Amino acid sequence: MRCRKNQATLTAQEKARFVAALLALKANGTYDQYVVMHVNAMSYAHKGPAFFPWHREMLRRMELDLQSVDADVTLPYWDWTVDNSVTSSIWNDDFMGGNGRPSDGKVMSGPFAFDAGNWPQEDGGPLTRRMAQGAPTLPTPTDLANALATVPYDLAPYNWSGSLAGFRNTTEGWRNGPQLHNRVHVWVGGSMNPMTSPNDPVFFLHHCFIDKCWADWQALHPGEPAFLPTNGAAAGQNLNDSMEPWASLGIVVTPASVVDHHALGYAYDTESVCQPTLKFHDDIVVKVIADKGSGLKHIIDSTATLKLSDDRPTLKIYDDAPTLKLVDDGGTLKFSDDGGTVKFVDDGGGTLKFLDDGGTLKALDDVKTPALDIGGEKPITDVVLPGRGEIDPRASGAAGAGGGAPFILVTPHHTMAWAKTFPGALEKAIAQLDLQLASFEGVVAELEKRNATSDASTEEKTQLELHRRELETIREEREALSRYLRE
Ligand code: CU
Ligand code: CU
Repeated sequence: MRCRKNQATLTAQEKARFVAALLALKANGTYDQYVVMHVNAMSYAHKGPAFFPWHREMLRRMELDLQSVDADVTLPYWDWTVDNSVTSSIWNDDFMGGNGRPSDGKVMSGPFAFDAGNWPQEDGGPLTRRMAQGAPTLPTPTDLANALATVPYDLAPYNWSGSLAGFRNTTEGWRNGPQLHNRVHVWVGGSMNPMTSPNDPVFFLHHCFIDKCWADWQALHPGEPAFLPTNGAAAGQNLNDSMEPWASLGIVVTPASVVDHHALGYAYDTESVCQPTLKFHDDIVVKVIADKGSGLKHIIDSTATLKLSDDRPTLKIYDDAPTLKLVDDGGTLKFSDDGGTVKFVDDGGGTLKFLDDGGTLKALDDVKTPALDIGGEKPITDVVLPGRGEIDPRASGAAGAGGGAPFILVTPHHTMAWAKTFPGALEKAIAQLDLQLASFEGVVAELEKRNATSDASTEEKTQLELHRRELETIREEREALSRYLRE
């Protein structure tokens, strides 16, 4: 699964690589094909139910093209309800570049400025922007929340009437327009106004957020059909209609075939599938020493170091006997507690949280002191998990695993010790893996279907291979766990 990120969270390097991939596609002529594709899509990509699926397919194709240049790139999204001004960092010179000049709207800074020499528009002219002129403000968080709360997906007669109050028409922005999607085009202005709007690369960041809106809306309304109608709308606008221009090229793309973005191989950074998995490492046998009286046993490892790390490269938790340390190997993160007790809480949804029941928990940015202790002279005494009561801090790894997060114990003998200490935890872990298995099998089946029915790209084939391997790993893990359970 590839994760699309909020552009505001990209590192300087991620921005540079995204820009470089765009420039490469511009240079080899691929980019301009998307401008033409969008111009020709006037009649069937807008003002109707196919608005979301059509743009999803367009963006996915662009993303695969970008990845053919740089495999690590994914499309970033622009949350314009937050980064909502002419001075937001999205417009910095290392990314999208700035506003146009007052006289003619010509963008003068950044990688896409005409005078920088790499970005003639599809028509040969310069990129233009006239921000905050056609519309004074961008849509607000309330505007977005209202749209996401709107059901059903679309309503008859499935057009762009200003009074049509379904999710699609509201979010596309025709209802009391221009709102939401339309308003963003108008707010940026210049090149973003006409049907050639993909001339401005911010088009893809804007539409990536629109695509995320559809995904978020589906997650918010699991009881609603993700797309409507199945019939009754114009050709190309019904659930199983082939969409142009792909139909004419002999490629079958229907709204139904793109309804599930996970099946297309990507997710958004706000989804749990894009959150890192916590892992527990310990190279020495964990000994069960004493029963604390609470029914939970007290694990002490004599000399070993219990490590928790997530699979992002930054945050690590080390227990070196008396102190629990959080170390950021980027040298930027510091937690300190000036009183009370720091608690780790697993919300069961895969998020490990830090809570402080007194004093103040501080998170400081201190590049001079990359390593620090939590608790200092008052070592952490409580690890609190829902339904588990208090557990000794050295058991935090095992306790976390019992809390329901998708934790994986990496060494077999620890799994055994852990299972004995926390009855039922192993069964929980297996149930979790079963869920993962089911969702992965679904994704693989979808990818296999795509590979069989369309001329799949190399990227799609790689994706399938990757998913198959991941599926195999999960199966092995499950097998190992149930073996321990039987023993
Ligand atoms: Cu469009
Ligand atoms: Cu648009």
